[in-house]
Amino acid sequence: MSFFTNINKMFKKISLYRLFSIVSFVMLITLSVNKAQALEEVDDFQPAKLWKDDNGVHINAHGGGVLNHEGKYYWFGEHKVAGKTGNKAHVGVHVYISENLTNWKDAGIALKVSDDAKSEITKGAIIERPKVLFNETTGKFVMWFHLELKGQGYKAARTGVAVADKPTGPYRFIKSVRPNAKHLPINITAQEKQAFELMQQEKEVPEKLKNNIKGYKSLTFLSRDFTGGQMARDMTLFKDKDGKAYQLYSSEENQTLHISLLNDDYLSHSGRFIRMYSGGQDEAPAIAYRAGQYHLLTSGLSGWKPNAAKQYIAKHILGPWNKLNNPTLGINPENGFGANKTFGGQSTHLLALQNKPGHFIAMFDLWRPDNAIDGRYIWLPVEFVDGVMRITWQDNWDLSIFE
Ligand code: DGJ
Repeated sequence: MSFFTNINKMFKKISLYRLFSIVSFVMLITLSVNKAQALEEVDDFQPAKLWKDDNGVHINAHGGGVLNHEGKYYWFGEHKVAGKTGNKAHVGVHVYISENLTNWKDAGIALKVSDDAKSEITKGAIIERPKVLFNETTGKFVMWFHLELKGQGYKAARTGVAVADKPTGPYRFIKSVRPNAKHLPINITAQEKQAFELMQQEKEVPEKLKNNIKGYKSLTFLSRDFTGGQMARDMTLFKDKDGKAYQLYSSEENQTLHISLLNDDYLSHSGRFIRMYSGGQDEAPAIAYRAGQYHLLTSGLSGWKPNAAKQYIAKHILGPWNKLNNPTLGINPENGFGANKTFGGQSTHLLALQNKPGHFIAMFDLWRPDNAIDGRYIWLPVEFVDGVMRITWQDNWDLSIFE
């Protein structure tokens, strides 16, 4: 090799190094600018718009709930993926952290689906509406969710539980159940019990008795599932003032919502439960307590399509519950949906503000079943008018609304 060839090679190497350094430098600058843009503080809520996390990615926490813990908010929800099968659990339950409710930091996957085909939470199962409570006595974070076994559609109607030592997880899946096997609801009426007993003995229920029972068909499902445990689909959790926890879930083929006391460790059902509103066809429960009253927000049944929101009120969480008017008001200008379609959304959680007791944000999902990952969040302030919830559409709003 000649002297000149060597020099030439050296120059080539140097210019390659230069090129590499310049490209890396430009990439670094672009990345930092992007990150800075992604990190731009958001100080208002823009219902149904894209909502970016600290990485600049649309938040992926659908059917979610928020845990308030030591001054921070932890938003748990279904991690969806793109496309029509995106509603299935391919990844797990996602968690985000915030201190101001508008800027959310991605804290990763709190509960991962399993690669083991035999696991109940194997990839491709359905995991919906995860919610988390902190148990003061055990010091554990307890997550419950609606679980459908892989390949069985929505037939299994089970609820799963997982625990963690830290709010963000990792959560360890413990088991799934059909709640309250061999227990009767504590609010069963004399006539319902009479009919239930006849059903259990496989005897004919007289027509007159049938006609006297509100939501009779639903009672037949309660009886059918008495021995094996009750169906549990759309769900939420609630921790009461005394530290007792309750799970609310759509049961009896989605005809009746149950409210069930959990045992003290929050890991199982106590057998003490009510049928909230027999034959009421309630899904998507979200609950709040304020000034001596429990407020419940639900939807009707129409799959991923929106319907009208409903509200109920009670002095005790185990009832009796009274049905009130649809709490929603106004129109979402983007889709033209108003109160009869809940702005295109479906309730998922009533978020209690940590520094403003008695104030709540109503969280709804705007589902996009054809491209599940693009589902949007509708967060709106809850007003109490004569002690009753009112949720009015806002194009954008901020927390000063509560002042
Ligand atoms: C409505 C429920 O509220 C959702 O969580 C989901 O289960 C869909 N139905 C499935 O169609």
